[in-house]
Amino acid sequence: MKTILITGGAGFIGSHVVRLFVNKYPDYHIVNLDVLTYAGNLENLKDIDTLPNYEFVKGDINDGPFILELFEKYQFDGVLHLAAESHVDRSIADPMAFIMTNIVGTVNLLNGARKIWKSSEGHRFYHISTDEVYGSLGETGLFLETTSYDPHSPYSASKASSDHLVRAYHDTYKLPIVITNCSNNYGPNQFPEKLIPLSIHNISQNKPIPIYGKGENIRDWLYVEDHAAAIDLVFHEGKDGQTYNIGGHNEWTNIALILQLCKTMDKKLGRAEGTSEKLITYVKDRAGHDLRYAIDSTKIQKELGWAPSLQFEEGIEKTVDWYLANPDWLENVSSGAYEKYYEKQYVNR
Ligand code: NAD
Ligand code: TYD
Repeated sequence: MKTILITGGAGFIGSHVVRLFVNKYPDYHIVNLDVLTYAGNLENLKDIDTLPNYEFVKGDINDGPFILELFEKYQFDGVLHLAAESHVDRSIADPMAFIMTNIVGTVNLLNGARKIWKSSEGHRFYHISTDEVYGSLGETGLFLETTSYDPHSPYSASKASSDHLVRAYHDTYKLPIVITNCSNNYGPNQFPEKLIPLSIHNISQNKPIPIYGKGENIRDWLYVEDHAAAIDLVFHEGKDGQTYNIGGHNEWTNIALILQLCKTMDKKLGRAEGTSEKLITYVKDRAGHDLRYAIDSTKIQKELGWAPSLQFEEGIEKTVDWYLANPDWLENVSSGAYEKYYEKQYVNR
């Protein structure tokens, strides 16, 4: 029996990782630690939250003494760290929350692991990070694991800082760590502030789709379950101290992606082709907007045998189907109704 801590498990990617681990590893005791910010939603885990190998703990990774106590109490064998402030636009509006959670919160967890792990044997601290730490590409080139860090937004600078600290704990204290840097994820359960769920929501409500600048920025999109499968693989088979890049080999300009999404939405909503794209509205560009991200994932493909399983058209269709089938989820996460669900399920437990 292994006791595994997953932080941020009520969020978008974390909920897919928790579901995968709880279902795939009945012998693991999975502890999901999440403070439930606006982005954390226990409805994301409704289907597994009564399983015997799953436990939810509400708590803040910024609270150092609490984190040390938690590590003492549970004696975690491994940590998968996903809790973070994750939205670039919010980091531009309020950098300090990103500094606290993404940097200080990560160090609190590193200290917890360092305190209870007397040797590296049988332990692993897995830090989940982003390709945005590498900065912005021009028209050509790909991010490699060896690419120098060059973050531009407060979000990416905070993630870069946490990556460096995780490596520093490996080099200084021999803490067993592994890091992955992944490209943009999409799929069910993503909070409707990010480009794809926001656009699905707005199209279904006949509201404008805001495109920053000219829509020429490029992102490399990966279906969230493919990311969760990579995380499972790296946690179990990645080499100590290593970094792996994860990406979809799936680059889209924002405008081409939105046109594809509009086409899918017209089909799903029974609207005439071309209806949804009339909602596209060009708005003021994001400050410091990175032009292009694109990942070279040769290392994880060659060393660990991972590859994305879905084509983008398929992934987008699955994503749209999920959002259209779950209008209550959108309503609940936007209105705070999940807090009532939390009170009902977890208070006094
Ligand atoms: P998210 O914003 O959907 O979820 C973050 C979760 O962390 C939420 O459940 C939130 O309640 C929790 N959390 C935030 N602050 C906390 C705190 N102080 N204590 C405890 N819990 C806290 O994020 P996501 O998109 O699922 O991203 C998860 C991780 O993956 C992040 O570390 C992010 O940097 C990384 N990542 C995301 C993407 C992407 O495209 N979304 C791509 C690459 C890497
Ligand atoms: P986002 O989903 O916020 O992810 P990230 O900034 O981490 O890549 O944005 C993806 C791209 O879409 C990015 O180039 C910014 C752009 N964008 C818009 O054009 N309009 C929007 O309303 C949002 C949220 C993003």
